[in-house]
Amino acid sequence: MIVSVKEILEKAKVGGYAVGAFNTTNLETTRAIVEAAKETKSPVIIQITEKTMEYAGGRMIYNIIKNDVEFYAPEIPVGIHLDHGKSFEIIERCVEIGLTSVMYDGSRKEYVDNVAMTKKVVDFCHEKGDFMTVQGELGSVPYLSENRMGAVDWDKYMTDPAQAKDFVEKTGIDTLAVAIGNAHGFFTERETPDWERLEKIRSMIDIPIILHGASDWEDGKATMAIQKGVNCFNVDTNTRMAFVNSLSTKFKCDKDPGLDLREILGEAREAVKEAVKRKMELFGSAGKA
Ligand code: G3H
Ligand code: 13P
Ligand code: ZN
Repeated sequence: MIVSVKEILEKAKVGGYAVGAFNTTNLETTRAIVEAAKETKSPVIIQITEKTMEYAGGRMIYNIIKNDVEFYAPEIPVGIHLDHGKSFEIIERCVEIGLTSVMYDGSRKEYVDNVAMTKKVVDFCHEKGDFMTVQGELGSVPYLSENRMGAVDWDKYMTDPAQAKDFVEKTGIDTLAVAIGNAHGFFTERETPDWERLEKIRSMIDIPIILHGASDWEDGKATMAIQKGVNCFNVDTNTRMAFVNSLSTKFKCDKDPGLDLREILGEAREAVKEAVKRKMELFGSAGKA
């Protein structure tokens, strides 16, 4: 059943586990996430980005997710979320479509502007009801594309704990995405995440903490992050990799892959499902639905 993201993450915080927020772009990935959640009895967040809304149609992809949940896993708590919303207009559009959880990503703005815009989004969303969930970001999570060539100056990305407290108080956000040495995509991350910083942030704010860009982290690092207070991991690169690897194996093997798209894409869907299930076990959300 579709439920509030806030509710899913508050339970994770109390229970000391994390929930995966998995990006989807299509039919196959969506169904893979829903089936993985059903098979592992795991609460889950399924998220879309603005680019995915352009690709698949916002209303269309929203309804695919909603339909899959209601038809295949009505007993599983699922939240539907906008990932990295960068403008007020995209937030309005998502709310109009029916999403009850959005991220406003003002992480690359000056602090005062990030506060002002995030607060505007929070006021707009909370006015619709208590179930509405808004994620903000402070500090910033770098992308592979902007750092391909050189060493990353991690200091310029990190979340400042005292500022995080001020940000939560001034904006009224429900969840906070933090930067502690995590980075989008698969590339050399900060050798050790800044655990001390994470602990400080955790001790200064009371809302669920989200970690973007950690889908390539080895198990020990993810487990440590949960112990130190992370309640949700965004996962995209890891599942896209499973999808693409399945296709590439199919087309590279000696046997003619044939022309049945349901068979070709069905195998990719299964590969994504296995990757999602693995993350659900690792995060400790399996069995919590
Ligand atoms: O953090 C963002 C996701 O990994 C995917 O972003 O759908 O805008 O390419 P995109
Ligand atoms: P990864 O690139 O590690 O999968 O992170 C995805 C993400 O943060 C989406 O918002
Ligand atoms: Zn992200």
